[in-house]
This record gives sequence, structure tokens and C-alpha cells, in this order.
Amino acid sequence: MTLLSYDLSNVQVEACGRAIGGTQHDFGTFVPRMQDGIAWLQDQCGHDDGFFLDLPLQSIEKERQLAERIREQFDTLVIIGIGGSSLGTRAIYNALINPYTYTPRNNPQSRQGMRLHFIENVDPVEIADLLQILDLKRTAFNVVTKSGTTIETISGLLIIRDRLIRELGQEGYRQRVVCTTDRGANPLRHLANEEGLQILDIPPAVGGRYSALSSVGTFPLLCAGMDVQALLDGAKQARNNVLNASLENNLAGLFASIQTFFIESGPADVVFMSYVPQLADLGEWFVQLWAESLGKRKPNGDAVGPTPIPAIGARDQHSLLQLMMDGPPIRNVVFLEDTLLPRDLVVPEVPDALKSLEHLGNRPIAETLYAERKGVEAALREAQRPSSAFFIHGIREETIGALMLILEAATAITGMFLGVDPFNQPGVELGKRYAHGILGHPEHTGKLKKLQEDEQRIPIRHMTF
Ligand code: PA5
Repeated sequence: MTLLSYDLSNVQVEACGRAIGGTQHDFGTFVPRMQDGIAWLQDQCGHDDGFFLDLPLQSIEKERQLAERIREQFDTLVIIGIGGSSLGTRAIYNALINPYTYTPRNNPQSRQGMRLHFIENVDPVEIADLLQILDLKRTAFNVVTKSGTTIETISGLLIIRDRLIRELGQEGYRQRVVCTTDRGANPLRHLANEEGLQILDIPPAVGGRYSALSSVGTFPLLCAGMDVQALLDGAKQARNNVLNASLENNLAGLFASIQTFFIESGPADVVFMSYVPQLADLGEWFVQLWAESLGKRKPNGDAVGPTPIPAIGARDQHSLLQLMMDGPPIRNVVFLEDTLLPRDLVVPEVPDALKSLEHLGNRPIAETLYAERKGVEAALREAQRPSSAFFIHGIREETIGALMLILEAATAITGMFLGVDPFNQPGVELGKRYAHGILGHPEHTGKLKKLQEDEQRIPIRHMTF
């Protein structure tokens, strides 16, 4: 069954003019680069340390057994993690689970899954709000951090650990906490071993923002009652497309080529505009994937960095669209559309008093959403602003798994085209070192000193009223 398709008609000169659009010749120049990109991905597959493209082939038996046990004992799972250790899981969960019944939207009769909550920040208000409603006896926790050292995640764990031990004792704490972390030694793994906590492994060569389909996502999503095998099966079909499809049908390669063409020619920033509102969190996941993978310095010191901007249609037509139409031509839009939107919710006939808006009535509201997207696409074309579109054939595990893997592969290939490492994030480290220094870490006193010197040196301009 078709899972995904990608329409790039509106990136061509015929659609958006000579200044911005690409010609057959322009896109032809990407053929050898695409071949190299795909060969490079093929080379990374099959390693013992793992690779994101191999995740669809993994066994999830260990995660399944643990999830079954946790589901029998508890009804709520709190994921403590940040960035790649939570965004993908949250995106998939919110795409597929009905927030009122906690059952999968595409299988409402299935057994109710655990409800998932996320602690992704060191926010005293959010954590306190959540702790207020949690019944700790009925709640399990999944601490997810690949490095095992992340400030936000370890701080969240320490708060929960203390609360659990005080209220339910050491054994109550031990039964409720599952740690998902890198296979190698790290502080979280050390704690988990010392305290007898359950541990799930993340393959060493799978970085955070490429790890949604590893135990990072599979375990909590199994707890939530999702068909995780179907998610992986969809991703497996996408893997096959990435590694084996002809170049003109290689979705990841084409997406990477078009984005690279725009990064090199002008409209580099990408508005990721989903006309599937349940995929709102997928936009946040994509922002991290694209920004952290591609915002880099090349070996020659040049900076590259297309800015990803998440948007939801039709809602954000009333906020971002004006900028996209008449602002500087520095953006291209990537639409997401579900071709199988439910058609059973119908806008009723319009009363006489609204006669001038008669055309809005007597039609599935899905048609209205479709018209809105097509309208924006046409308007952008008229303003000579480029767009392309992913079509998802139904929102279900297979299609979400496929889309995520295609976007991950496209990001990796784009990094390769741009000559940057899409798997590292050196720029994220400096802020962390300062934060550790401020919090008193003995290895980072140098950073604390630098901060204090800078604050002495820079004249104070601080207004109050
Ligand atoms: O993509 C990445 O590697 C990062 O964004 C990480 O996911 C994020 O910093 C969290 O790291 P960790 O999983 O080590 O806690």
C-alpha cells in the first residue's frame, strides 16, 4: 500500500520564476551528488554500533516484554528526557493517540494504553503541576538520556527519585523507573546498576535526534498501546526507498537535493507546514532534526544554517502566511497533507442569514482544509515563492514511521551535500559548560570565571520600571 508521496512541481522555474525556481539542468547536477549520498548511507548500515537506518530492522522483543509488565502494573508513564530523547516519542504519541480516551485513533476498540506525560524541561511550575495530578502508585517513569549526563533530565530524575523513595520506599522507586541510555558506561547507567533499575540500551552510533525509532521511542509507545511493529514496518519501507529506489523516486534524496539547491541559491529557510494538526509536534521534532544537524561551520569555517520554522495549516495562515508571501524571499514551504482525512464530520447547511457563505456548508470539513492548503500553495506560486508537499496516505503507524525515516535520511544527505557533519552538535556544548560552571561543577570553574569577568567588563544597561 502506498504510504507517502512527494510533489515537487512548485519548485520549478515554471512555478516560481527564473530567480528562484530550478530547471531540469539545475536538478540534474544533483544526480552524482545523490548517488554519492546514498552510497555513503549504504556504507554506514550494518555496523555493530547501530545506525539510524538500521533501526527498522531491530527486534523489539525486550521492549515489548518490559512494556507488557509495566502496563499490567501502572496506568501512567512519565517520560523524563529532552531533545532527541523525547521529541520523536511525543510527536508519534500525539499523532496517533486520542487525548481524551487514550486509545489509538485508528483502533479505538483496542485495549487502553498507558497515558504518557513528558517532563522535558527544568520548569518548576510544570513539574509541580504534573506532580500534583500524578498518582505515584499508578505511575511509572522512563528516564531517557543517551549521554546519561544531561542537566535537565538528571535534575528531573533526582526530583522524582526523591519523591518516590519518600512516598513508596526504595523498592517502590526501583519498580517504577526504567532508564533508556547508551550501551556504554555513563553516570545514569552507573546509578541504574547501583540501584537495580531496569535498563534499555540505545545503540552507540544512533544520535539523539535520529533515535526516535530506537528503544527511546519503542518502549514508551508500546506502553501507550501503539502498534510499534507497524511503525517500524513503515520505516522499513522508507529505508528501502532510501537505499534502493531509482533516483527519480528517492524521496529523501530528492528532498535533500531541493533543500540544498535552495540553501545554495537563496530561499534556504524551510517552513514545515502541516495541514494535519495532529502532527503539530512532528514540526517540533523536525526543527530539532534540521537545525541541530545542519546549523554548522564547514571545515573552511563558513557557517551554514537553514532555519526550520514549524507551522500548522490552516491556523498559521493567520499568522505566518503574510511573511511567507511578501517578506524577503528567503523561505521555501514544505506542506504535509493527509490524503485520507476522515470525511464524516460535515459542515451543515448554511442558514439564510449567512447566505453569502453558502459554499462553506454541506461538505466534509476535510474538503475545507484541502481547499485551504491548495489555496496557499497557489498563492505562494503567484507570489513566486517555492513550495513542495509530502502526501501521507492516512495517519497511522506505518505512514508516520515512513515519514520520519525519510526526513532523517534527507537531513543526513543534506548534511553530506553541504559538507557538514549532520550527526554532531558541537555548538550545543558551550552553553552546557557555562550552566555546569554556574551550578558549581569543579571542572567548569573556568567558564564561571569567564562569565563573571565578562559581566564586569560589559557596561550594565538594565531597565526597570
Ligand atoms: O540530537 C541530540 O543528540 C541532542 O539533541 C540530544 O538528543 C539532547 O541533547 C539530549 O541528550 P541526551 O539524550 O544525552 O540527554
